[in-house]
Amino acid sequence: MREKIEELLIEVEGFHAENPAAVEDFRIKMLSKKGLISELFNDFRTLSPEDKKVVGQQLNALKTKALEKVNTLKEQMEETINQQKASGKYPDLSLPADFALSGSRHPISIVRNQINSIFEKIGFVISEGPEIEDDSHNFSALNFAEEHPARDMQDTFFVEKNPDIALRTHTSSVQVRVMKNQQPPIRTISPGRVFRNEAISARAHCIFHQVEGLYIDKGVSFADLRHVLDHFAREFFGADARIRLRPSYFPFTEPSAEVDVSCPFCKGKGCNICKGSGWVEIMGCGMVDPNVLENCNIDSKVYSGYAFGMGIERITMLKYLVNDLRLYFENDVRFLRQFSSAH
Ligand code: PHE
Repeated sequence: MREKIEELLIEVEGFHAENPAAVEDFRIKMLSKKGLISELFNDFRTLSPEDKKVVGQQLNALKTKALEKVNTLKEQMEETINQQKASGKYPDLSLPADFALSGSRHPISIVRNQINSIFEKIGFVISEGPEIEDDSHNFSALNFAEEHPARDMQDTFFVEKNPDIALRTHTSSVQVRVMKNQQPPIRTISPGRVFRNEAISARAHCIFHQVEGLYIDKGVSFADLRHVLDHFAREFFGADARIRLRPSYFPFTEPSAEVDVSCPFCKGKGCNICKGSGWVEIMGCGMVDPNVLENCNIDSKVYSGYAFGMGIERITMLKYLVNDLRLYFENDVRFLRQFSSAH
């Protein structure tokens, strides 16, 4: 029996395992109820009291060694598995699947699409044109007098060495193109990027976006203009939104007006967004000047029309309360990730 114990002791000490299953097999072979060591304990009962003294110690020592071996191997294996899991080598099939990260739309695009769809639903067609324009489409055809300050170098980016070519300062230039190519009825909106020679700050940028609208037909009146703007304000800002028109001046419209919407935050009561007035300015508008119609070969005695134009950034700022324009151009994903929309 002592020999048997020694044999097993050598086996226990020399045991190595490749995987947890091998350790478990070894445990069963040695330590389970019918295992080799348990068998020795059964035989042990039949020994004489003197033998029991000596063999008992050896047998207990063997059992302890075997238990220790099994436990250390188990621990070591668990640790390697955890390390492999952490390093990604060991696929954990119980983990939930990775989400496919989808991008989010830029807030300016979200608002532009929303504005487009409000007007598309009432029959306006989208028209687009070039960002690099000639003086005629951007200024002359729109009734800008030769000495109008908007043509000044400070407002407009001219293409070097050619004062006739510039980056468009508004998308009214697209409307000139539509009017020249199409006879009324015309009902169009022109979304797009525009450029002005301004110093960049939280409140001004040299690039921004506009949506301009144009409707020309027989008998179009200022009341039609007011009606469509009312509709837009309610669709965009909510059913309780109101607008007011203040007289203004644009070379291409007569009469002209500035459009204010009741402050979407305080509902007209006065807050720091509307600087206590209850109103915020959102766009310019007016009846298309007959000179503009004539410049574009549309008979101003037969047709009349209205036009309006808004800055998308301004509307976006009101929608999301983000008051630094520069954020819209930096494309910092931490900023952009916050926007999501069905539009
Ligand atoms: N084009 C004008 C601007 O850029 C906006 C506008 C459009 C005003 C149409 C009146 C009518 O500021």
